[in-house]
Amino acid sequence: VESTALKTRSGIQGFDEILLGGFPKGRSIVLSGPPGSGKSTFGMQFLYKGIKDYGEPGVYVTLSESPNEIRTNMKSYDWDILKLERDGRLLLVDARPFSVSEEGFVTPNESLYRGEAMPFSHLTDMILAGIRRVEAKRLVIDSMTILAMQYVNRFYIRQGLMGMVQALSNQDCTCLLISESIQEQGKIPVEWYIAPGVILLHYTRKGDTMERAVQVVKMRGTRHSEQIYPAKLLETGFTVLQPRMIA
Ligand SMILES: Nc1ncnc2c1ncn2[C@@H]1O[C@H](COP(=O)(O)OP(=O)(O)OP(=O)(O)O)[C@@H](O)[C@H]1O
Ligand SMILES: [Mg+2]
Repeated sequence: VESTALKTRSGIQGFDEILLGGFPKGRSIVLSGPPGSGKSTFGMQFLYKGIKDYGEPGVYVTLSESPNEIRTNMKSYDWDILKLERDGRLLLVDARPFSVSEEGFVTPNESLYRGEAMPFSHLTDMILAGIRRVEAKRLVIDSMTILAMQYVNRFYIRQGLMGMVQALSNQDCTCLLISESIQEQGKIPVEWYIAPGVILLHYTRKGDTMERAVQVVKMRGTRHSEQIYPAKLLETGFTVLQPRMIA
């Protein structure tokens, strides 16, 4: 018997049913998908709904878009990101591997990634500080792929990611680790093995249009649906449709 006390509600419409209640609380789940499949939207919605509906503060760590780009993009949904930041319930952490000066010069920011005993340990410390600051119960890292790209040594990457996932698992904080993947490449990203759970977003051609879908690839220690569910991006965010709804 699975207790809902051990679950973190996803905040994604129609998704908790598939997960039999939600994400396993306090664990790290990889959220994977091709460009434009809705990963960042799904991630921010997890945090936004977490705050609004479940009173759980969140941290969004960005390694690709700037915090301002994220705030602007998310305006196309009816979520007021900035207000939650001002209330101290949402924290955007800029962990991009470069910095931009006030004059607009772009320089590499290696301090966050180089000269550390373990790969990603500086970043992990920064994330843990962010979690403490807002007492976060939810975390999103967008994306892990950018971390892995910085090393050629695959053992290093695996060691670093495992260390990070281990450190996060002691925080009582449910984490979505975004991963850029194109299934057709046939290469499985390392984080798929390391994390206890994997969610895959599909974005594929059907006739003269594109279709969205979502699937649970794995979720250690719990049962889950094995179906691939059609999904839509609506004004209200990422929405999972039950197969019967589109019959
Ligand atoms: N209100 C909306 N309704 C429907 N679709 C929207 C809305 N706002 C944005 N979109 C679409 O959502 C798509 C997915 O955005 P998102 O940034 O979440 O994808 P992503 O998987 O993170 O992409 P990337 O790999 O480039 O980071 C965008 O292509 C955008 O056109
Ligand atoms: Mg994105």
